[in-house]
Amino acid sequence: MQWVLASGNKGKIREFREIFGDRIVGYDELIAPFEVEESASTFAGNALLKARAVYERLGENPRMAVLADDSGISVPALGGVPGIYSARYAGEGASDRENLRKLIGELEKRGIERTPAYYTAAIAIVSPVGEYVVHGWMHGEVIPEARGEGGFGYDPMFIPEGFTQTLGELDSSVKQSISHRYRAAERARPLLDLIERSLALHKSS
Ligand code: IMP
Repeated sequence: MQWVLASGNKGKIREFREIFGDRIVGYDELIAPFEVEESASTFAGNALLKARAVYERLGENPRMAVLADDSGISVPALGGVPGIYSARYAGEGASDRENLRKLIGELEKRGIERTPAYYTAAIAIVSPVGEYVVHGWMHGEVIPEARGEGGFGYDPMFIPEGFTQTLGELDSSVKQSISHRYRAAERARPLLDLIERSLALHKSS
């Protein structure tokens, strides 16, 4: 059974392989890459849009299922932004650095020195035996400055609960064990096993 990841991002493919092993394959190894408009209003909706689009293009194949993730950071003191717009907070095509600077600017404008924030990851699975979505979260606080070079995106301004340093300063192994993506993936694991068993049963009946 092959698990196709609906992302061409090498970093994401590596992270998913670390969790699920070599059965993960990037979709662009099987079909030509294409853009999916993330037009849903939730992380789950956007993850499902991506997984369904790749599943449809792959064509009916009882030995394949598609995984997709969507993620972002939310700051309740700012009304929950950037949320599902995390990747394009500073505008369409904005870089990680530009998005980070924009969020720092919004905190500075309001004189906020530290405020709760959380990352969300949704993982959607589209398979011959149904569709599923699981979530994972990482809570902490954001500060109006970038500290450290580790991680990516908003990590240099995010201090996870139970720590005093930002994800930019902490060792990457810390993030791997507590991240929203890791937690969502841990919830996806039993579903993947179940789907695999269901498909094996279908085949033998
Ligand atoms: P996605 O690739 O559409 O899921 O977009 C995720 C966006 O959310 C990224 O571009 C980052 O801005 C932000 N993001 C998601 N996860 C993380 C993380 O683990 N660290 C830092 N930023 C993240």
